[in-house]
Amino acid sequence: MKILITGANGQIGRSLIRTIPKHHILLAADRTVLDITRRTAVFRTVAAFRPDIIINAAAYTAVDQAESEPETATAVNEYGAMHLAQAAAENGAAILHLSTDYVFDGKANTPYRETDIPRPQNVYGTSKLAGEAAVQAACPRSIILRTSWVFSEYGNHFVNKLLQSALHHNTLDMVADQYGTPTYAGDIAAALIHIAETIHNDSTTDYGIYHFSGSPCTSRLSFAQAILKSAYQQGILTHIPALNPVSSTHYPTAAYRPLYSCLDNTKIQAAFNISPRDWKKSLSLKINRIFKNIK
Ligand SMILES: NC(=O)c1ccc[n+]([C@@H]2O[C@H](COP(=O)([O-])OP(=O)(O)OC[C@H]3O[C@@H](n4cnc5c(N)ncnc54)[C@H](OP(=O)(O)O)[C@@H]3O)[C@@H](O)[C@H]2O)c1
Repeated sequence: MKILITGANGQIGRSLIRTIPKHHILLAADRTVLDITRRTAVFRTVAAFRPDIIINAAAYTAVDQAESEPETATAVNEYGAMHLAQAAAENGAAILHLSTDYVFDGKANTPYRETDIPRPQNVYGTSKLAGEAAVQAACPRSIILRTSWVFSEYGNHFVNKLLQSALHHNTLDMVADQYGTPTYAGDIAAALIHIAETIHNDSTTDYGIYHFSGSPCTSRLSFAQAILKSAYQQGILTHIPALNPVSSTHYPTAAYRPLYSCLDNTKIQAAFNISPRDWKKSLSLKINRIFKNIK
């Protein structure tokens, strides 16, 4: 199978490169190789490589910055995604496109299903929702995989930011009223590869939107407690800083974040036999690597 990965230098892109079995033929394109906002370059690359599957891991992910750069967020998250989906359709490829829990408004109190109505509350979520629609309109063989609270050995995310702060502080304020599902990027990569192989070998695939996240749903505060405990147990931290629970209103950010964005994984389990992974297990297995990469 020939697979084109865009956004190859991101958390999920790098996790995919590491995980994809060697018998597949891979073109891993970071932004310098393929800028997805450049329509002609996208069509030229797809026509030349002729992938069976395109995995779009490229995105504008700076949630707060997006509030002041809506055109850039839209150019990447909507139009860039559309270019890839159009090129996929024109060249007989399927596309796996990543999206986010931030398409929801956060007013639910049970995990969001694929049938729930999205109502994004910030520019990033709005641009990602527009991207979902553009991909589905352009390519009938498209899977949208919504995920949430991603952490990995790469890039900047909640886990490594918290570990860095914990090295220098004895107490830390922590938001206690935001709920979501942490997800290890390596688990997302494994899910994407399984879906890609299934699609490639099975013409009866149900294309459409799927949710995939870790398990269980948790608060920002409990996630932080688990990270610090695991780091302490593995000798990364010599002390566990005290966490002072605060409400989101205590920390105004440029972008509003949904208070509840847990995702329901029932549909992907039924269609692709993919179960949500226990994020605490992934965290405890990988926290040493995550820490080494920030030192
Ligand atoms: N991170 C999360 O917590 C989270 C949660 C839910 C959903 N998601 C979704 O998961 C996907 C991957 O996220 P991630 O965490 O892996 O993000 P990431 O680490 O920020 O990676 C995104 C990659 O996209 C690249 N990129 C940006 N603009 C581009 C363009 N015009 N052309 C080509 N590449 C471009 C970036 O390149 P540079 O390295 O050059 O900037 C970066 O390497 C996204 O669709 C995101 O919306 C993420």
